[in-house]
Amino acid sequence: SVLILDFGSQYTHLITRRIRSLSVFSLCISGTSPLSSITSLNPKVVILSGGPHSVHADDSPSFADGFVEWAQSNGVFVLGICYGLHLLVQRLGGEVRVGEKQEYGRMEIETATLPNGFEVVARSQQGAVAAVEDKDRRFYGLQYHPEVTHSPEGMETLRSFLFEVCGVNAGWKMENVMDEEIKVINNMVGPDDHVICALSGGVDSTVAATLVHKAIGDRLHCVFVDNGLLRYKERERVMETFERDVHLPVTCVDATEQFLSKLKGVVDPELKRKIIGKEFICVFDAFAKELENNLGKKSAFLVQGTLYPDVIESCPNQELEELTLTQSKVIIMLEVRQLGRILSVPYSFLKRHPFPGPGLAVRVLGDVTEDNALDTIRQSIKDAGIYDSIWQAFAVFLPVKSVGVQGNQRTHSHVVALRAVTSQDGMTADWYVFIALHCFALHDWCNVYVPHLSQLYTNLTFDPFSHLLTPKPKFSFSSCNFEREFLDDVVQKICNNVRGVNCVALDITSKPPSTIEWE
Ligand code: XMP
Repeated sequence: SVLILDFGSQYTHLITRRIRSLSVFSLCISGTSPLSSITSLNPKVVILSGGPHSVHADDSPSFADGFVEWAQSNGVFVLGICYGLHLLVQRLGGEVRVGEKQEYGRMEIETATLPNGFEVVARSQQGAVAAVEDKDRRFYGLQYHPEVTHSPEGMETLRSFLFEVCGVNAGWKMENVMDEEIKVINNMVGPDDHVICALSGGVDSTVAATLVHKAIGDRLHCVFVDNGLLRYKERERVMETFERDVHLPVTCVDATEQFLSKLKGVVDPELKRKIIGKEFICVFDAFAKELENNLGKKSAFLVQGTLYPDVIESCPNQELEELTLTQSKVIIMLEVRQLGRILSVPYSFLKRHPFPGPGLAVRVLGDVTEDNALDTIRQSIKDAGIYDSIWQAFAVFLPVKSVGVQGNQRTHSHVVALRAVTSQDGMTADWYVFIALHCFALHDWCNVYVPHLSQLYTNLTFDPFSHLLTPKPKFSFSSCNFEREFLDDVVQKICNNVRGVNCVALDITSKPPSTIEWE
């Protein structure tokens, strides 16, 4: 009942997802869709998404002619977000001007002369228009993005807009997604077709494989590729868990040599990604040919599962365009963990941190070598073990050396950077210690004894930090004892145990302006 018209914002699918999380069905289509596509869906609410364009540009995308009139005569509520608001204002006869001061991130300023009937209901601290409404005509607009987790009360804004202003009904369930997707898959894949799935062992591809397996059974053939860029003991762990807990047929291909030889001497991150993508396709191609020989027919599709920022920011399907062996279809599954739970995917998969497709190659800055960089980074990763309370934690191998002193000797060794972030979807992220400080500060300010500190640090995967599981009575925000003790311990473990490293740096940048990975 909520239709989102997409004008190219990287957050558009987040709006869809947030609304679904409120148990309201929402669907996203192109912002320039013809009016008939919009009216045939009979939405009660239409949201005009943000986008990278300026309404002043000649070729800026816009909604179909007649949309406003149709919305008004059918009592449809229209909410414009950022660019969507600018469009609405412009098409209704108002004027959008670029503000004198612009900032990306937590503040963004535009000024507007509103069309007749509109009222300003919120302003930013600088006095710029932040929210507007024209209650009579049911037009609403927000200059900021309520869908991103970094907008405080963003969810509450969406919730009250949908339920209190528009009066939509909740009742849509995640189970419906599973049934719908199974229908889509069965319509797409013929009754005798075979399908290949590229399995990484991460949550997205595991849920995608389980879903497709539920739809087409053993006509699904999964392949797991060890490209030599995986984490510590990753191949063994994934294959073991698949066999024991997931019960999907998986073939493991060891392509370490193939990948590492192609990466030799390559330092450009985009080139690394391209080479790795190409090699993956070669491996899938060979797997498909072997399967074709065994089955006597070609496989019809390749299934890929990846997380949302990857679809939006990294364009992983560039390589798929070159794929001749199979057709490919990307199903964007917005609530992958939720769907995984319904499909009974083991918790050990659902809770895994995301890991980039190009693997450790993008965490080894510069040339990727087995005996030096990869080995170092694997040891560091092994030691960076807080798990459930964070989105991702990892070490980055830097191609710079610093002078140090170790065991009475001056050394000239590598620098490793540690990065740990919290996030809900990878689209935006906060550096971890900041959050931890907040938790402790909160307890401290409220003068609350923390009886279950371990809950914050559940399931530590490695020993070095086991002492952190012991509850501590109280932490002082100003001295940050806990943080200091913890970080000291990590640094000591890395410098003492990881060959060729004498300096550890902590990355304390959020996304934006950084991204989560360094390359
Ligand atoms: P960034 O670094 O863009 O990462 O903030 C957002 C999320 O995506 C993962 N990531 C990738 N995943 N191929 C992938 O499959 C890639 O090239 C890639 N780059 C980043 C990253 O680990 C984080 O979870």
